[in-house]
Amino acid sequence: MKLKYVILLIFGLLIFEAQAQFPELENRLDRKIKAFLEENANNWRDMNVSLSDGRVLYDLILENNYTAAVEIGTSTGHSAIWMAWALSKTGGKLITIEIDKVRYLKAKANFKNAGVEEFIDARLGDAHELVPNLEGKYDFVFSDADKYWYKNYFIAMDPKLEVGGCFTAHNTSMRAHGIREFLDYVESLDHYKTTINRQSRSGISLSYKIAEK
Ligand SMILES: C[S@@+](CC[C@H](N)C(=O)[O-])C[C@H]1O[C@@H](n2cnc3c(N)ncnc32)[C@H](O)[C@@H]1O
Repeated sequence: MKLKYVILLIFGLLIFEAQAQFPELENRLDRKIKAFLEENANNWRDMNVSLSDGRVLYDLILENNYTAAVEIGTSTGHSAIWMAWALSKTGGKLITIEIDKVRYLKAKANFKNAGVEEFIDARLGDAHELVPNLEGKYDFVFSDADKYWYKNYFIAMDPKLEVGGCFTAHNTSMRAHGIREFLDYVESLDHYKTTINRQSRSGISLSYKIAEK
């Protein structure tokens, strides 16, 4: 095969793969969010999740009909936009927490531009303090801030998580300080069932709550 056909084929496959990440579009908001994500696909430079990890979060929320989500570590909002997209369909809302003011403000602007701001309650502050003080019950958590604190975030969220809910944590493939300790802890719990999503190159752990303690 001539080189130019090989290049065209690779290019076509890349476009196909990027399109495959997006869910079917049902309404005007879907089209607005997708357009925003496509326009900004190469602009996420603040430790944000990949497009495919965003889709994993979207699917988890939609498949389980989750409505009350918490994200620990907003950064500039890529993962939050994917979760808010799913919550726009389940009638839910996301609380997301970020300690860095510049990232928090950028995330707020991104939420507005993507059209998802009404589904997100963005909070500026230290999650070490804000997470234990969250009031109410939740059914989905995405932990993506300081890895060495994952176990503490989990312990703080456990009593607030509904049975059937899921605590997810990002970057579980990393050798970062705290990841192994967190995984050993959640895997040891009888009232949770923990698996690792292997679709994600970074690793996303999924701990489903199967009973109260
Ligand atoms: C990996 S990034 C999050 C990426 C984001 N989930 C996304 O995909 O767009 C981690 C973020 O957690 C924030 N962070 C770290 N420690 C924190 C803490 N104690 N409280 C709140 N945010 C924290 C960092 O400032 C950083 O923006």
